[in-house]
Amino acid sequence: MQSHTSAPGKIILCGEHAVVYGRPAIALPLSKIRARASVAPGAAGIGIRFDAPNLGRRWLLAAAPGDPLSELTLATLKQLGITRIPDIQITITSDIPIASGMGSGAAIATAIVRALATAFGRNLSAAEISALVYASEQRYHGTPSGIDNTVIAYEQAIWFQRRSEPPHLIEPLPIAAPFTLVIGDTGVRSATRLPVGEVRRRWQEDPARYEALFDLVADVVHQARHALARGDVATLGPLLDRNQEALEQIGVSSPELERLITAARRAGAAGAKLSGGGWGGVMIALVDPETVVSVREALLAVGAARVLETTVSASA
Ligand code: MEV
Repeated sequence: MQSHTSAPGKIILCGEHAVVYGRPAIALPLSKIRARASVAPGAAGIGIRFDAPNLGRRWLLAAAPGDPLSELTLATLKQLGITRIPDIQITITSDIPIASGMGSGAAIATAIVRALATAFGRNLSAAEISALVYASEQRYHGTPSGIDNTVIAYEQAIWFQRRSEPPHLIEPLPIAAPFTLVIGDTGVRSATRLPVGEVRRRWQEDPARYEALFDLVADVVHQARHALARGDVATLGPLLDRNQEALEQIGVSSPELERLITAARRAGAAGAKLSGGGWGGVMIALVDPETVVSVREALLAVGAARVLETTVSASA
């Protein structure tokens, strides 16, 4: 019994926040930055020991049964039909910065579920993994739409629309031409549940205004889908800009995000927006081979904590 598994980070191309309210959104996996989990036999009689060196945490399940990852582990063992707590060591590492909008929490959870299934010789479908991770996220993050756990468990570009009852609409996204995004991290950590909670408060206060903003975002997301299906990358840039405008009105942008977004546009990006929960975390900029280097340099020059790049391939 031994297993090593991993799960990717993610970014939302367009549609965040509105997706919590039933509008569609597009999400992409970030396969090059990953969370990893391994399961190995542990000391007899100890039960489950967790070791997460780069999260700076180490704990025994018996001592912290209410910890979110302890609970996820118990739920996964139950799903796998394992009724006795095994003596195992679960080691967790991750290259995805936490609270950055790149899906760190859902990726760690997905890696743990996969590692447990593999260690016990069981197969869980992407849908089963996604449901376990969603239940865990929901318990600790308020009202997630389910898009993060879905794109990470399926590890492919997806069109996602939440329905009032599962199953939600999950479709692989047709992409006719590849495109490249530069991702700039503000370095400001922002737990997704905070802006999500604030948007809910504002929506409750002024539902008509927020429903109209969510409809505007949905229109952008539909147009982005058509542009990607046609391989019309030129149209995508202005759509990202329009999505950013709506996110600013929704109230989830920040001066740090806007500094990076402005710098990327000035350096030649075809469009740019925040990605994920906002208030901090990352922004994305659409680039081409001529602008990629200048955009990267511009982001670093205005203080990005980290700059990544992802090229999304055309789907077969
Ligand atoms: C977070 O990646 C995306 C949000 O729309 C929250 C959610 O969908 O659960 C901000």
